[in-house]
Amino acid sequence: MDDRPLRTYGRVKGRPLKARQAALVQTRLPALCPPAGPFDPRALMPDATEVWLEIGFGGGEHLAAQAERRPDVLMLGVEPFLNGVASLVRHVDERGLANVRLCQGDARELVARLPDASIERVFVLFPDPWPKARHFKRRLLQPGFIAALARVTRGGGRLRFATDWRDYACWTLERMLASPGWTWTAERADDWRRPPQDHVSTRYETKALGDTPPIFLEFDRR
Ligand SMILES: C[S@@+](CC[C@H](N)C(=O)[O-])C[C@H]1O[C@@H](n2cnc3c(N)ncnc32)[C@H](O)[C@@H]1O
Repeated sequence: MDDRPLRTYGRVKGRPLKARQAALVQTRLPALCPPAGPFDPRALMPDATEVWLEIGFGGGEHLAAQAERRPDVLMLGVEPFLNGVASLVRHVDERGLANVRLCQGDARELVARLPDASIERVFVLFPDPWPKARHFKRRLLQPGFIAALARVTRGGGRLRFATDWRDYACWTLERMLASPGWTWTAERADDWRRPPQDHVSTRYETKALGDTPPIFLEFDRR
């Protein structure tokens, strides 16, 4: 029996990589990948003040911008889509970012390899909305994964979720509120209606494909 978790992403391969991109991936990616098996992200950058994890970084624009802003933070990214991985490798190379590590694959597998309380911040920005009811089970923040993220996030750490699909925001909020690990930080409507002060717009966000302006939900790790 196949006990792998249900796929939460549409594709892992897009257009073939251009020769330069493929060469960059081949030469730079191995040193950017965390080791196989369980690992402590602090060991990847011992002088890092914090470790932040971005799940489904797409083209990596947000991750690269945050890494550039905060060179003291280790930015860890995970994304199954090869073209997205290649795009982030290019950002890392062009901007000379020394504080980025990335993994091509499923965030649920990466998170299972992390020690307890090893991450300060988690970003889940504009994940695939899976709008049809029969596909809700493919949405990323299922109760089991919400609990896994609570395990790896340090007390007082924070998770940011963003979407421009109203129903997906409600669906996720319901599940996060039901989890004992997280507290929703919003006190007024502007706290979820306005982008957080340190938000960097993502490529998917600018496409505005959803049915509402972006909604930002932030949760503190209890
Ligand atoms: C709609 S795109 C948004 C990309 C990016 N965050 C942005 O806002 O531009 C969702 C991304 O999540 C990735 N994704 C889906 N399931 C994932 C999983 N289980 N682990 C890691 N990434 C995943 C997809 O490959 C895709 O790149």
